[in-house]
Amino acid sequence: MSDKPVIITDQATDQSLELPVIRGTEGDPTLDINKLYKNLGYFTYDPGFAATASCTSDITFIDGGKGILRYRGYPIEQLAEKSTFVEVAYLLLYGELPANDEYEAFRHDITYHTMVHEKLNTFISGFHYDAHPMAMMAGVVGSLAAFYHDRMDPKDPEHRALAAKRLIAKMPTIAAACYRHHMGWPVAYPKNKLNYCERFLDMMFSVPAEPYEINPVAAKALDLLFILHADHEQNASTSTVRLVGSTGANPYACIAAGIAALWGPAHGGANEAVLNMLNQIGDVSNVPKYMAKAKDRDDPFRLMGFGHRVYKNYDPRASIIREACHEVLDDLGVDDPLLELAMELEKIALEDEYFVRRKLYPNVDFYSGIIYKALGFPTSMFTVMFAIARTVGWVSQWLEQSENPTRIGRPRQVYNGPTVRDYVEISSR
Ligand code: ACO
Repeated sequence: MSDKPVIITDQATDQSLELPVIRGTEGDPTLDINKLYKNLGYFTYDPGFAATASCTSDITFIDGGKGILRYRGYPIEQLAEKSTFVEVAYLLLYGELPANDEYEAFRHDITYHTMVHEKLNTFISGFHYDAHPMAMMAGVVGSLAAFYHDRMDPKDPEHRALAAKRLIAKMPTIAAACYRHHMGWPVAYPKNKLNYCERFLDMMFSVPAEPYEINPVAAKALDLLFILHADHEQNASTSTVRLVGSTGANPYACIAAGIAALWGPAHGGANEAVLNMLNQIGDVSNVPKYMAKAKDRDDPFRLMGFGHRVYKNYDPRASIIREACHEVLDDLGVDDPLLELAMELEKIALEDEYFVRRKLYPNVDFYSGIIYKALGFPTSMFTVMFAIARTVGWVSQWLEQSENPTRIGRPRQVYNGPTVRDYVEISSR
């Protein structure tokens, strides 16, 4: 495709307009339709934003056709193999891999912001014991605005930097506290001598009665999953964060909105839904029945963990997790029949004409739940794990937007309701 402007002509008025082509460093060319309404009087209609770029960004690149994912130019495969989640967080936030001293300073800052105000724990204890942890997370993270209201001006670079670190540091503390509230266990405070994932495991699973041994295999597996979930350009929750951010709302409100959006089963809630689905299928012998349900337009059942708006090829994160799944289960000595079931389901789906024609492949969530389960996380916490990791991406995207604020996000609509009519008194209706 060329970089020449595209000229569109309104046949009714014979008016023409040149639409400039915007080219990023990579990716498909994009038409700038800014002047379309002003000059020709038309809006554009794109439900689900399937063909709309909402912003420019330097953070994450995806080529869905080729199955490519890169953070700041670095292939996800290299980061998964060689980096750590905290280093990836630095990369996503600031654009470059850190030098040693930069890494140490960042790691120190994240470590020393992990504690939360004791009143926040009081707030958590107010939830019913069986509240879904994602419901708690959305509320509790939003409430951080009430604790840090003196330092959360999105226009102030220092406030922004502090809020970014606070959010990344406190998410695991809050997540673990929500889980412990459900279990009826006392709060476990963050231990500075541990690294990010070790500390989270300790806050989740340690009990006062006995020492808790952190399994290095579990900490490493968690770190890998967090790297893979850290960012994914303008997905539904990130777009939500940006939209809320465009109003000038505080960072805690923006991230709380992102958490709420992530919870949906078509998005981050899919990892929980995959495990529920595998349990529902139960046995390899039932796979054909559920495949038929997934293909039936009149049946709401979908193969959870399959399909993606952008990837029309194998999700590169799914390939990494699939491999890790075998290694982690072997290392932990876990024999989970759900893994065998998932593999059988994948094998059949990848050969099935329905899935092949629609380019439906396993996505990041298809295998992640099996690893989380092997690490001891309950199903209801799976999407919370996603939220912890994705906070890095949300915050990076919010920082990028806040550094160069655009206009408030305000889509339009095609109105299909009644045209004007007169009010009728209730006695006459
Ligand atoms: N099972 C069965 N059929 C499917 C599935 C699926 N998982 N996903 C898509 N299809 C079908 C659709 O019914 C549609 O068929 P049609 O052309 O005959 O109407 C076609 O494939 C295209 O699907 P759309 O829904 O138009 O694709 P869209 O891009 O809007 O949705 C989504 C993508 C939401 C991810 C979808 O594939 C889905 O619901 N998957 C299951 C949930 C899931 O795993 N979500 C996690 C996504 S990754 C993430 O957020 C981390």
